[in-house]
Amino acid sequence: MASLEVDISAVEEGQTVTVKWRGKPVFIRRRSEKEIALANDVDMASLRDPEEDSARATKPEWLVVIGVCTHLGCVPIANAGDYSGWFCPCHGSHYDISGRIRKGPAPYNLEVPEYKFLDDNTLIVG
Ligand code: FES
Repeated sequence: MASLEVDISAVEEGQTVTVKWRGKPVFIRRRSEKEIALANDVDMASLRDPEEDSARATKPEWLVVIGVCTHLGCVPIANAGDYSGWFCPCHGSHYDISGRIRKGPAPYNLEVPEYKFLDDNTLIVG
């Protein structure tokens, strides 16, 4: 299946852009130092689907996740919810700034697709 090349040079700190890949939305978030610190300052034992932020974001500044709620597939809203990440309005799932499920019915974290950086300005999804 095709990979998607994304120019990320215009994405500002604190901004989330949504691209479409394999028919699904993919959220690309440029995180601030504060957000990265927040993503790392989490007790793993408190997570429903425990994953270190470093395992989800190879470059801490960039979080790349599939924008499909792991409950029943709605598209969560960025910069919303109780954990500074995403909120799914369908049944009230809250995801943190690492895309990890923190509250609500969703069973798993937002999925991280395969991706790599071609250079500082170019992300390849897939
Ligand atoms: Fe997101 Fe149900 S589909 S909370």
